[in-house]
This record gives sequence, structure tokens and C-alpha cells, in this order.
Amino acid sequence: MGQMDEYRPAALETAYGRVLEVGFGTARNLTHYPPGVSSLAGVDPLPAASARVQARMRAAPFPVEHHALRADGALPFDTCSFDTIVTTWTLCSIPEPLRALAEMRRVLRPGGRFLFIEHGRSERPATARWQDRLNPLWVRVAGGCNMNRAIESLVQEGGFELTACRRFLGKGPRVLATLFQGIALRRD
Ligand SMILES: C[S@@+](CC[C@H](N)C(=O)[O-])C[C@H]1O[C@@H](n2cnc3c(N)ncnc32)[C@H](O)[C@@H]1O
Repeated sequence: MGQMDEYRPAALETAYGRVLEVGFGTARNLTHYPPGVSSLAGVDPLPAASARVQARMRAAPFPVEHHALRADGALPFDTCSFDTIVTTWTLCSIPEPLRALAEMRRVLRPGGRFLFIEHGRSERPATARWQDRLNPLWVRVAGGCNMNRAIESLVQEGGFELTACRRFLGKGPRVLATLFQGIALRRD
């Protein structure tokens, strides 16, 4: 995921307060959060056991806790307990993304922001057709990652209102490089 680091600061620019990061992965976002962040809870089914991840967590300028669990189950947080929710290259991999979005919406306080940068379905019909063709194989070889999810509709269907979403082409093959960087508010 290192090749994506250049996109992280812009995606995380407006994060503040208590942050929930879904799909915490190897803690690559931690050095890119702005000063207004006060604490962070990371959720990921993978344990944060490696020395490298532990070192990144210790070096963060705010407290970081890790929860080894799936976000598409019940999240162990109070309703309205976060100011910011973050996903980066994660909605592609969650088996039941709408369940996860419903939980994220529940724990985000009214007026709080959901910040994301994700890859997903191309607006070019030819590329989208290739994504649909390749996806069944890709899911199997890439640890459950889907290349053809329609990110904007998914976020909206999950109970959020998009206030901004920039669609652009990142590095790599077109089927994987359609990126969506957005800010959404919870719909009440
Ligand atoms: C492509 S990696 C991105 C990691 C990290 N967000 C980043 O930007 O480097 C996708 C992450 O989603 C996590 N993931 C997969 N299923 C999940 C689920 N059900 N709930 C939460 N995270 C999940 C994976 O374990 C993995 O860490």
C-alpha cells in the first residue's frame, strides 16, 4: 500500500477529534493525520501484531487503540461517539459493505464527517466491463478485494450524503486505478 501514500494527506486533511479508522491495515495513515485529531480507534480483522505496526502506533501524536474485528458486524462503540470516520482502500474488501456503513453511520455523531479514498468502478463502460469480467478471479487472488464496486452509490446507499467526491485516475492499470476521494455526512 506504500505506493498510495501520496494520496493520503489530502484524503485525511479534514479529520479531527475522535477518529474511527475502518480497515486500519498496517497503520499507514497514522503519519498523515492533521493536528486536530485527538484519538484514533482502528478496526481491522487482522491483528496489529507486527513490530512495524506497533511502532507506528506508538509514534502517533495521539492515543491509538486497535480492535481486531470485522466492521460488518456490530462495532463495540457507543452511538454518536466519533467525530470522523475514515476508510482508505477498504470498502473494496469488506464482504458486507452496507452492514459496515450502517455501523459507521451509527457511531458517527451528527455533523461528523466520513472521509474516504477508495478504488472502484470506472465510469468508462469498456473499463467497467473488464472490471466485471476480472472481478471473480481478482477477489480470489487479492484477499477479497473487489475492483468493480460503485463507491459513490455504495456510500449513499449506506446512509451518507456526499458533500464532495473527486474521481480521478491514480497509478496502475485502469481497472484498479479509478479512485474516489470523498467527504460524506451522515443522513438523518
Ligand atoms: C487494501 S487494505 C487497506 C489497508 C489500509 N486502509 C491502507 O490504506 O493501507 C484493506 C484492508 O481492509 C481490511 N478488511 C477486510 N475486511 C474487513 C472487514 N470486514 N472489516 C474491516 N476491515 C476489513 C483488510 O484486513 C485490510 O487491512
